[in-house]
Amino acid sequence: AEVHNHDFVIQETPVKRLCKTHNIITVNGQFPGPTVEVKNGDTLVVNVVNRGQYNVTIHWHGIRQMRTAWADGPEFVTQCPIRPGGSYTYRFTIKGQEGTLWWHAHSSWLRATVYGALIVYPMENNSYPFTTPNREFPVILGEWWDMNPMDVVREAIRTGAAPNTSDAFTINGQPGDLYSCSSNETTSFPVKAGETNLFRFINAALNNELFVSIAGHTMTVVGADASYTKPFSTSTLMLGPGQTTDVLITMNQPPSSYYIAARAYASAQGVPFDNTTTTAVLQYDCGCLPGPDQSLPPASPTLPAFNDTATATAFSTSVKSPAPVKLPGPVDENLFFTVGLGLFNCPPGKTCGGPNGTRFGGSINNVSFVLPSSYSILQAHHLAVQGVFTSDFPATPSTKFDYTGNVSRNLWQPSPATKLYKLKYGSVVELVLQGTSIFAAENHPIHLHGYDFYILAEGFGNFNPATDRAKFNLVDPPLRNTVGVPVRGWAVIRFVADNPGVWLLHCHFDVHITWGLAMAFLVENGYGELEALEPPPTDLPLC
Ligand code: C2O
Repeated sequence: AEVHNHDFVIQETPVKRLCKTHNIITVNGQFPGPTVEVKNGDTLVVNVVNRGQYNVTIHWHGIRQMRTAWADGPEFVTQCPIRPGGSYTYRFTIKGQEGTLWWHAHSSWLRATVYGALIVYPMENNSYPFTTPNREFPVILGEWWDMNPMDVVREAIRTGAAPNTSDAFTINGQPGDLYSCSSNETTSFPVKAGETNLFRFINAALNNELFVSIAGHTMTVVGADASYTKPFSTSTLMLGPGQTTDVLITMNQPPSSYYIAARAYASAQGVPFDNTTTTAVLQYDCGCLPGPDQSLPPASPTLPAFNDTATATAFSTSVKSPAPVKLPGPVDENLFFTVGLGLFNCPPGKTCGGPNGTRFGGSINNVSFVLPSSYSILQAHHLAVQGVFTSDFPATPSTKFDYTGNVSRNLWQPSPATKLYKLKYGSVVELVLQGTSIFAAENHPIHLHGYDFYILAEGFGNFNPATDRAKFNLVDPPLRNTVGVPVRGWAVIRFVADNPGVWLLHCHFDVHITWGLAMAFLVENGYGELEALEPPPTDLPLC
């Protein structure tokens, strides 16, 4: 196994998109940021130097961080932020994961521009469990704002209203040629007829799930969230923010140029927040289209409608483990968490911009997560500092109601707190994630730090243990780190708490984290030295 050293310099960089130039925060001046390539079993050492004007942290999304929770990255959870002028070295080993992951800032909304691919190749002398591709491409989907995204979130927090939507979706940082003033801003993937190529899709968008299609080409899904999957072919992908999907595509069409296009899957409120389409081009090496007169646009794919829940569900439930799995059991912890939005009463003496003078909020089991500021939670736990968090996060909601019906908001007024749920080392956890429709019914892409989990089932309505347990896939459920809890529905995940530390569980829509749709698990140390959290690095930033 190798050790890979990288320097990440966080800096302000002028970038021009949609005919406007503004300064964004980048890593090493690159947008998207550098692709990090490692092999399963390697160690990654990344020295992050903050030369920007904001506090920052970097999260290695999907990396399990076995016993190295200090390197996980969410600000005020596993570390205090790296202040302007400061630095911190993330050091961790990749164990038993192969495929596509990514890294992103985990501090306010900085990940709008601070993100990149993290590719984990098979171990030395190992190969993929599928045809060796001729070429590989990371394909990172993102969102672009004409405004500084940090100002967008600041304004949303100030007013309590919903934030501005983005001005474009992007593929590898480029919006594609369908926006006004973006004709020279299209990513192109050079391919040759007859090849089979691996495309590693990553949804790095802030606040949108995305459908993806490619004109004329079928995709074979072979991996998701750095786990291999049972191959299946599809014309459309759906990725929630945080999720990755690896697909093989055979270049079997007449040599030409074909659009790769992505557009929002927006289950909320029956309206797309942003119904624009981003494009990139699959360009065959043919000197053919677009013609010498540049008159012919690339062939266009058909994308599902923004509210096509049937297509989104058909896709997510087709993702399965390649072979029967040894599912952990019996279950030690049966947890039931409601995930959703609500409207909070406006604090006295303020005016709020949400519906009827309220402000937006998110919660899990009626607790709206608040980040501490004097210590990170992990530091407070390690040093046994009192008063930073409590360990009384409820295992089930205090009030049962028709979660997916028309719920009056008075029934469910979340209270803000920093509450954790404590897990014994090695316990088997089964967690029902129940979407709610208090104020807004919407999909929630729920991400768990420090773990991969099996997705046993998803469904609509209120989870009913008597009938829904029969629908669990106990044979070949997929192993992922982010699960889409369907609109007015539920999903069930299972994992073993074998990684000590503090691990955030949250909706990967940044606007929902801002509103408190998060909680954290505190996983205690096991018995032996090899089951305990490593000591904190000496350069760990303090608050
Ligand atoms: Cu990719 Cu807590 O995030």
